[in-house]
Parts: sequence; structure tokens; C-alpha cells
Amino acid sequence: MKLADNKATLSFSNGSPSIELPVYQGSIGPDVIDIRKLYGQSGMFTYDPGFLSTASCQSAITYIDGDKGELLYRGYPIEQLATKCDYLDTCYLLLKGELPNATERDDFHKLVLKHTMVHEQMQFFLRGFRRDAHPMAVLTGLIGALSAFYHDSTDINNPQHREIAAIRLISKLPTLVAMAYKYGVGQPFMYPRNELSYAGNFLHMMFGTPCEDYKVNPVLEKALDRIFILHADHEQNASTSTVRLCGSSGTNPFAAIAAGVACLWGPAHGGANEACLNMLEDIQRNGGIAKVGEFMEQVKDKNSGVKLMGFGHRVYKNYDPRAKLMQETCNEVLAELGLEKDPLFALAKQVEKIALEDDYFVQRKLYPNVDFYSGIVQRAIGIPVSLFTGIFALARTVGWIAQLNEMLADPEYKIGRPRQLFTGSPRRDVP
Ligand code: SDX
Repeated sequence: MKLADNKATLSFSNGSPSIELPVYQGSIGPDVIDIRKLYGQSGMFTYDPGFLSTASCQSAITYIDGDKGELLYRGYPIEQLATKCDYLDTCYLLLKGELPNATERDDFHKLVLKHTMVHEQMQFFLRGFRRDAHPMAVLTGLIGALSAFYHDSTDINNPQHREIAAIRLISKLPTLVAMAYKYGVGQPFMYPRNELSYAGNFLHMMFGTPCEDYKVNPVLEKALDRIFILHADHEQNASTSTVRLCGSSGTNPFAAIAAGVACLWGPAHGGANEACLNMLEDIQRNGGIAKVGEFMEQVKDKNSGVKLMGFGHRVYKNYDPRAKLMQETCNEVLAELGLEKDPLFALAKQVEKIALEDDYFVQRKLYPNVDFYSGIVQRAIGIPVSLFTGIFALARTVGWIAQLNEMLADPEYKIGRPRQLFTGSPRRDVP
């Protein structure tokens, strides 16, 4: 970042001396006002619950232009990565800053596929859960537990430790997500097959059984790989900010990623894909397309507490580019499976059409986000609704790690410790 010619001057109506604050420029996107000295010079904090106007860090990984509906990973548009690269290429790009050449690509793919197994003891963690435990509860536990097995990669300030922890997490997440699924359906865990692709291996561990060979469907394999790419990173969203804040205390990478999984679970964030599919199924059950108008009235009634899940975004005030790509993937998968007439997909497209023509949504710039169509394509592939956010966590792990590593390599980073506007009782004595 570089100092801008522009400066910010803060003046106070109560006659306190005005304060000059430096403005910094990035390579693209909004400039920032550096307020680090504000409290020291004014005795005041800034106030920004939800961080609507706050940059928490500088980053070179992902850039979003919410007005244009643009998403770049290390400068490459998501539309190009989703069509010209695979997920492991995207992992390499997010972690190292450049796309791999042929040798780097081959070495990285081999490295990741060499770490796909988890310690045999890990399976005993699952036995502690009820069979109907939500997979995100299981994953939060399993990922945190990884730190108990890999003492040679828990020193977050050691670059070698961070490197091997990154590979272990990227490699083992699919195995752990598939184990959480198998445990829930009462089937035996499937060991990874390293001759398969990353996405193919995941499909095999999810839907294969020891009783017969599992044949990976290339259309579903490609669709899943694209879903992973679309979810890989997204600037300083809630779960990424959680990972950064958690990692800033110096805790190990596995614990920091487990914190990210826990945050992603929420329906306002990564849990929206599960909530969106449940919402579409509810509308379907209550009359389908004929009832969409009635549902929309509920959404627009503030007292109903009903939101149109899969719509709206803190940053995108235009169409989420990932939603467009996800809709295309939906078409491909449903066609492959002979489900073009899937009533839920037809319903989703109708809901989108009605919403995009409705003033309530237009005025608030509410568009479909990544979660609106992802549930439909995952359901068609056979992934249970409760596992949708687990898939999101699987894909987002590389983004969390890249952001965590970037923070740790930043000489300016400190432990995150926000302040507050205190509105409670002043000092008083116990009677
Ligand atoms: C993800 O941050 C990221 O990058 C996240 C993510 C990533 O890749 O990491 O993109 C993944 O989390 C996508 C978002 C998934 N969440 C949902 O689909 C849940 C539904 N969406 C909303 O909860 C909401 O849109 C948020 C949480 C996504 C964004 O909320 P904001 O930015 O805090 O906006 P807001 O709640 O202040 O809404 C502004 C207005 C309000 O109305 P008014 O008070 O102005 O009258 O829009 C309304 C809101 O009531 N609104 C909605 C709505 N979203 C916002 N009304 C109905 N349905 C919705 N979905």
C-alpha cells in the first residue's frame, strides 16, 4: 500500500484540536484512512459494529467489486478460473500468488494427494457423536482435533509448519467431510484413492462402498471441482475474519481453521445454502410457484423475520458472479442426471425472477448470492442438505489458510483486540 496525496482532517465542533490522518491507496478499490493513532491523539474510538466501513487488514489475495459484481483471486476473474483451471490450481494460486506451471502443478497435486489419509485414531472421535449429529458440529470437532495429531506443524510462526499444515488441511478436509457423512448414514468409511482427482476422490469417499467399485461421473466431478473453486476465498468475510482474529493470538492453524468452520455454520453466512434449500422445499410443500407471491409478502414484512435465503450480500450490490456460474453448473448437472424438469430448480428460477422485478429487492440491491443455487446442484449430486455447509468449509479452507498465512507474514500484524463504546453502569459499590 502507498501513502495517498490526499489526507483526512478530523475536526470537532467542541473546539478540540483537529487531527490529520494519513490516507493509503491500494492497487485497486477504495482508499483507507489510517486511524491507528486516533485514540492516542483524540482519546476517542471509531464505532463500526459489523465493520461496514472498516478495513481490518491489507491483503493481496482476493478482490471484490460489489457494484460491478466482480471477483478476482490474485487478479484472475472467477469466471476464467472456474472454466480454465481446477481447484488444486486455484489452491496453488491462492497460497502462492501465481498459477502453477506444469511441473509446479504436478508436484502440488501429488503432494496434496499424498496427505489425504487421516490418523486411524480420528475415526474414534466420530463414535462420540450421535449418528444424527449435524455434520458441522462433527467437523468443528474433528478439525480442532487435528492439532492433537500433528505437533510438527502447530507452530504458527514457523513457515515450514504453516506450509505442511496447509497441505494437511487441504488434503484431509474431503476425507473428514466424507467421514462425517458416512458416520451419519451408518456406512463404513472409505479410504481415499490417490489415483483419483481431488473432486473424484471426494465423490468416491462419499458415495463409494466396499461392496463394489465406484465409478466417478466426470460431469459431477467437474461440477464439484467448480463448486470448490467458487467457494475457495472471498476477502474478509465473517469466517475469514474469525480465522485471522483467532490466528492472531498465535494459536495453531488447525484451531484457527476450526474457528472458521464454526463461524461459517451460521445461516447468515455459509449456512445459507442449507437454509436456502430448506426454504425452497418449504415453498414447494406449501404450493410451489403459485405460492411464491405470498412468500415474498412475508419476506417484505419486517415483523415476519423471514428472509429470502441465498439473496443479498454485504459487498455485492449487483449479481454475485458465483451465482451465475453456479446456475450454469446446475443446468449441466441436472441435464446429465435427466433432472432438467427438477421442480425445485424451476421454483428457484421463478423466485429469482419475481425478486429481481420487485421494488423491495431492487431498492435494496438484493441479488442471488453464491448460496442460492449451490444447494440445488449439491442435492442433485446426492449430497444431503445438512452437509452443504461442510462442502463450503472444505472449499474455503484454502482461502482461510492463505489469509492466515498472509497475516502472519505481515510485519505490521498484532493480536486483534477491538475496543467498545461502554453503556453499562459506572463504578458502584456492593451495598
Ligand atoms: C455468504 O461476506 C461474504 O463474502 C460471505 C460469502 C462468502 O463467500 O464468504 O459471500 C458467503 O455468506 C453469502 C451470504 C449468505 N447469506 C444469506 O443468503 C442469508 C440471507 N442474506 C441476508 O441475511 C443478508 O443479505 C446478509 C447477511 C447476507 C447481508 O446482510 P447486511 O449486509 O448486514 O445487510 P442488511 O441485513 O443490513 O440488509 C439491508 C436491507 C435490510 O432491509 P432494511 O433494514 O434496509 O429495510 O436488506 C434487507 C434487510 O432487511 N435484506 C433482506 C435480505 N438481505 C438483506 N431482506 C430479505 N431477504 C434477504 N435475504
